[in-house]
Amino acid sequence: MAKIFISCRIFPEEVERLREAGHSAEVYPGDVIPREDLLRGVADADVLICPLSTKVDKEVFAAAPNLKIVANLGVGVDNIDLGEANARKVVVLNTPGVLTETVADLAFALMLAVARRVVELDKRLRAEGFPGWTFMPPYLGRDVWGAALGIVGLGRIGSAVARRARCFRMRILYYSRARKPELERELGCRYMKLEDLLAESDFVVLCTPLTPETHHMIGPRELSLMKRTAYLINIARGPVVDEGALVEALREGKIAGAALDVFEREPEVHPGLLELPNVVLTPHIGSATVATRRRMASMAVEGVLAALEGRRPDNIVNPEIWPGRTVTRITET
Ligand code: NAP
Ligand code: GLV
Repeated sequence: MAKIFISCRIFPEEVERLREAGHSAEVYPGDVIPREDLLRGVADADVLICPLSTKVDKEVFAAAPNLKIVANLGVGVDNIDLGEANARKVVVLNTPGVLTETVADLAFALMLAVARRVVELDKRLRAEGFPGWTFMPPYLGRDVWGAALGIVGLGRIGSAVARRARCFRMRILYYSRARKPELERELGCRYMKLEDLLAESDFVVLCTPLTPETHHMIGPRELSLMKRTAYLINIARGPVVDEGALVEALREGKIAGAALDVFEREPEVHPGLLELPNVVLTPHIGSATVATRRRMASMAVEGVLAALEGRRPDNIVNPEIWPGRTVTRITET
């Protein structure tokens, strides 16, 4: 029997599955766990199931001497110190694939919202009323259909964004570490160096993971390469963009607008962003639909149960250490 600590609320039926399999499962009853509660919760845990807001760093690993599995409720694993997990032979799981289409939907929602000024004009209507249909500004926005879309990171989510863009008859450009000839044919997209993509795109959508290489991938120089009429959409991770530089670029009219689901210092949001009307902000909701969150919870639980039974889960982030410590004795209770 394993001791499983879950550091946020999840669907009760998933907790039941763990218990029915004979494990003990303790659930933190809130959504963002305070650090002291986390350190207490993992102290005798064999398994930690956690949301992205749980930072699993050296201190957490040190506080959890029995830890064998960390299952992240999300695909990005930048909240977990993978080097430390590997050193301690702790298996790390994530939830790739099951959230791809839902996140791509949000990328489009953000693109449409900022270009057609949906949030700004909704607020204005509520405050000032609807004066009647007007032909000329102030309500005019930009077309999304037919525009040039630059996708940075043509992975699962980037490709799902491209598939949607085809229906909007957009010209699709992409930049990734490696060229993808098959996807180029399938999605009708064109590879470009990052600098060229930034200069040609009307919408730049960031779809990379956060790694040392992508940290501040978009800074003052990159923003200055973008068209003054272009928009930046970030559904990747906040620190991929230098947020201070973005605020400057928006204030100075170097780009037309931005739509952000993620922030450099979550849950903090740069105060400069809050003041700008040409910015749409959402609280990291890329995968936040009921159906997708159910799939994510289910994938995490299935991965944990498989690993505890000695079966290698598909969603293992560090396969090089498999089976890690999962074969060592699980705590008797
Ligand atoms: P994925 O399939 O692994 O795709 C990531 C893509 O990024 C790959 O195509 C990869 O290129 C590219 N990439 C990695 N490092 C790069 C670099 N230095 N320069 C250029 N491209 C680089 O992952 P995914 O499932 O699409 O998820 C992508 C990320 O989205 C996650 O890691 C997470 O941070 C974020 N996300 C956010 C939300 C949200 O709620 N906003 C939800 C889910 C995911 P190669 O193929 O060439 O290696
Ligand atoms: C969400 O941000 C994820 O990485 O799944």
